[in-house]
Amino acid sequence: MAFQIHSLGGYLHEYQKSVADPEGFWEDIASTFFWRKRWDKVLDWNFEGPDVKWFINGKLNITENIFERRLYTHGDQTAIIWEPNDPKEPSTRITYKELYEKVCNFANVLLNNGVKKGDRVAIYMPMIPEAAIAMLACARIGAVHSVVFAGFSATSLADRINDAGVNTVLTTDGAYRGAKPLSIKPIVDEALEKCSSVNKVIVFKRTSEEVQMKNGRDVWWHEETAKVSSENKAEVMDSEDMLFILYTSGSTGKPKGVVHTTGGYMVYSSYTFRNVFQYEDGDVFWCTADVGWITGHSYIVYGPLLSGATVVMFEGIPTYPDAGRFWQVIDKHKVNQFYTAPTAIRSLQAFGNDFITPYDLSSLKLLGSVGEPINEEAWRWYHTFIGKGRVPIVDTWWQTETGGILISPIAGVTPTKPAFATLPLPGVQPIIVDAEGKELKGNGVEGNLCIKFPWPSMLRTTYGDHERCRQTYFSTYKNLYFTGDGVKRDEDGYYRILGRVDDVINVSGHRLGTAEIENAINEHTLVIESAVVGYPHDIKGQGIYAYVICEDLAKNQRTEKVLVNEIIETVSKIIGPIAKPDKIMLVSGLPKTRSGKIMRRILRKIAEGDGSNLGDTTTLLNPEIVDEIKVKAGL
Ligand code: WTA
Repeated sequence: MAFQIHSLGGYLHEYQKSVADPEGFWEDIASTFFWRKRWDKVLDWNFEGPDVKWFINGKLNITENIFERRLYTHGDQTAIIWEPNDPKEPSTRITYKELYEKVCNFANVLLNNGVKKGDRVAIYMPMIPEAAIAMLACARIGAVHSVVFAGFSATSLADRINDAGVNTVLTTDGAYRGAKPLSIKPIVDEALEKCSSVNKVIVFKRTSEEVQMKNGRDVWWHEETAKVSSENKAEVMDSEDMLFILYTSGSTGKPKGVVHTTGGYMVYSSYTFRNVFQYEDGDVFWCTADVGWITGHSYIVYGPLLSGATVVMFEGIPTYPDAGRFWQVIDKHKVNQFYTAPTAIRSLQAFGNDFITPYDLSSLKLLGSVGEPINEEAWRWYHTFIGKGRVPIVDTWWQTETGGILISPIAGVTPTKPAFATLPLPGVQPIIVDAEGKELKGNGVEGNLCIKFPWPSMLRTTYGDHERCRQTYFSTYKNLYFTGDGVKRDEDGYYRILGRVDDVINVSGHRLGTAEIENAINEHTLVIESAVVGYPHDIKGQGIYAYVICEDLAKNQRTEKVLVNEIIETVSKIIGPIAKPDKIMLVSGLPKTRSGKIMRRILRKIAEGDGSNLGDTTTLLNPEIVDEIKVKAGL
């Protein structure tokens, strides 16, 4: 494969080339793709706008690069191996040719239902091949997909639909995840009560549970696909046309729609897939993420399929029917590259090694980690018991906004170090700054992680609100993209990500804004005010700790326990079960500065179980509250 790096020398050479001449470097890689019209200029950029454009005036369709580019040579190769939730249900294999036909067929369904180029389509589906087909069919006709993780609540779904002005929703009747079937369509129905822009819902039958179909709005996937052919001419897109929107949480209450465009995302997701995972033709690659997250977009769907890879797509969860499920699937499908999150690793580690022993894991050539810092203990367990000390681990650091992996070892090529994301990939120029934005040069430094030069798959804007994009990522430090992460560069020059430095918490690899959770808690009628902080959690990485001021309980006929449960339910209903607080402390006040700002640093310390280093609390508006909270926390 062109541009695949095979040696440390090769990496150093490519890296230097990518910094000395970024345009030339990416132009060579982009030239290996199929463009309807070549670009006039490789890059235009400034980080003030921000305004970043790659492969200017280039015309293409990303699905032609997955299908037409390779059908003659790769048509019969398996694209997706689908492993259902229930191990007794047979797995299925879909070849590139079959996938191509399904994508074209569903593209025609979309057109037939009035979806046009540029329209936004929400995808609220479980992990079934149709979720990938839905995404690719949108890309085929130039509609913009917005995949919403099917664990989000009706309110979260409605907010995302309204923010993007979605007119069509693709969903299923229900889902299988773990022991009990879940309802999906009723959540969509509830969401759509608040969404006037949606006029069409296409429903795939997965569980055959009975669902309400609204006349004129809801249609069945299987009936629609039968009406149209499997031939479709791809829409010609501009390199900078929107490919998708993906919502993610930030410091403020409202999730933002990160926008990715076509040409740059295509080039970068495929390049990084090939290199980081050292994927070779014929390998079986498995990324356990959900397609509702960026990891699923870039490393289940686009990166691998653009590279002609065979991917496993798994419907279930790591612990059903038991905690050996991942290892059984690796054995069953002879998986070569396995990519998962530290949370999953830690939780499976806690179940003990008896769940691993029955399975043959010798097919593995690589293990990957993504989504949150991996602690050294989990890294070593993964390395020793899953990789049998034999295979490299790639700890890949990146974000929804970056579109693809930015800092990571290249498997078997560049060195690894437990808990370190190690070195930037070619084309990536990280810089560490202090709070004032001064560059911290050399090794052995710690500060905030920024990127100083554009890479092809970086976000272009936040949907409908460019100013918010500028404010969030490009205004903290002049002429730099600010990641929101703290980082250390050790004596050897390796990067270790230290976690978020903003008000974002990372729970089981899922990003949640503290303000977003507070807003949800405050929806409970008895809540007056709340403050949410993250605290270290053995399995989830970070847990959610909420301090809540509420109305008089006795007067409102509540016990503390009842209220706490009601608050948890409220959050689950408004955001989704992933945002449920792990701990709630009812307090009579929150520590505030004289200007009324909540002192989160103090709340964080107490949540960590550290009551000693709280700093000077005498200048607070209400210093006595700190003692009350400490006593309640048993400190
Ligand atoms: C964190 C997931 C440490 C980080 C791809 C980042 C990581 C946020 C790593 C983005 C890693 C991701 N080591 N931390 N290897 N990978 N993160 O948008 O804080 O869901 O800013 O993208 O996850 O989360 P997101």
